Amino acid sequence: MNILLVGSGGRENALAWKMAQSPKCNKLFIAPGNAGTRDYGTNVALNPNDHQAVKKFLLDEKIDLVVVGPEEPLVKGLHDAILADATTASIPVIGPQQLGASLEGSKEFAKAFMMRHGIPTAQYKAFTAETVAEGEKFLETLKAPYVLKADGLAAGKGVLILDDLNEAKKELRQMLDGKFGDASSTVVIEEYLSGIELSVFVLTDGKSYVILPEAKDYKRIGEGDTGLNTGGMGAVSPVPFAGKEFMQKVEDRIVKPTVAGLAKDNIPYKGFIFIGLMNSDGDPMVIEYNVRMGDPETEVVMPRIESDLVDLFEAVANGKLGEKTIKVSNKTCCTVMMVAGGYPEAYKKGDVMTGFEKVDGSILFHAGTKVNDKDEVVTNGGRVIAVSSLGNTKDEAIAMSYKNVEHIQYAGRYFRRDISKDLDKYYK
Ligand code: AMP
Ligand code: GLY
Repeated sequence: MNILLVGSGGRENALAWKMAQSPKCNKLFIAPGNAGTRDYGTNVALNPNDHQAVKKFLLDEKIDLVVVGPEEPLVKGLHDAILADATTASIPVIGPQQLGASLEGSKEFAKAFMMRHGIPTAQYKAFTAETVAEGEKFLETLKAPYVLKADGLAAGKGVLILDDLNEAKKELRQMLDGKFGDASSTVVIEEYLSGIELSVFVLTDGKSYVILPEAKDYKRIGEGDTGLNTGGMGAVSPVPFAGKEFMQKVEDRIVKPTVAGLAKDNIPYKGFIFIGLMNSDGDPMVIEYNVRMGDPETEVVMPRIESDLVDLFEAVANGKLGEKTIKVSNKTCCTVMMVAGGYPEAYKKGDVMTGFEKVDGSILFHAGTKVNDKDEVVTNGGRVIAVSSLGNTKDEAIAMSYKNVEHIQYAGRYFRRDISKDLDKYYK
């Protein structure tokens, strides 16, 4: 098969690494890719939101399968555009159409979906500028902390958690006033959930599903989970506090009704569902849905999958996922994300990176990197490179990643030194 993978981050590097191992993968193109994805295919300068250009590429290169990494092209209707054109309609796309992508693109849509299908999640109400007074009253009925969410995509910044009622009321008004542009013209206010978070990943053809390895990520920039939110500073899979019994609850209470709910609501869906979960005293509650894999979770999930990913994608495309099972390694995978100094605030790009050849025992998944005109690999984003390692134990895996992190050098490099430390108490 000739495959087009859309995206440019660590997630796409991990997907490319995994797909390139498949005997079913003939040519692999990554649009636009990064300095790391070059090792597994051909990077192409295609804008995924230029639907005409993508369709022309699919025909020119005889593409048999499109895999979409990030949510934005899906929310903007890339899959719908490919389907709507008779010349490309038969090319399967991994990633939902716009309607299904609303599970991530609209928090209100996602919450209403969960309520309709009895999927455990925090109680909520949605408000607009016209109903701001009711929103303030609703806040008064809740206990602190208060959770306010912009309905639309807000680059991961649209969720506010506030301890003070007056502060929450003020923020509600500011959000409805355009604090996050159009994304916050509707605001979801919800009950605060306590517990510990994890990410569960499902691949579905709209009828059947397979559950991929779960993972925990580290969102804050600072050690001990302090400071600003980032895209993710590291990840671990499996998650030691998500045992068999808990994962069975996740499957029965969340995965099954989610996939059945999509079918019941006539929402076509072929692709990944990323379920952000809270483990609240042993009971799973959904925090959010995403319509893609997580980043950096993919960098620990892919190394643990022993099955052929392209074969699974083919089954999704043909509606035959029900005939497949997934084989997963018992090993633990850890990744440490190396970032640019200053990230997630202003940071520099273009710093030369060295030391790749010294890395031994880890897999490098480039995130924000590119090749400059002198053929050097340089930094090109906030999150620069993920260093992933498999080990027989968590300690073995994380030690290997930290050993190899030392070899990768560039000006202003930063990474958290405490990835996975919080989990130590769960291993016996
Ligand atoms: P989201 O974009 O919905 O994933 O929210 C971002 C982060 O806010 C989540 O990863 C949680 O850490 C936190 N969060 C979101 N909703 C809640 C909630 N209802 N209770 C507690 N924390 C939440
Ligand atoms: N690591 C969280 C995300 O991909 O949204």
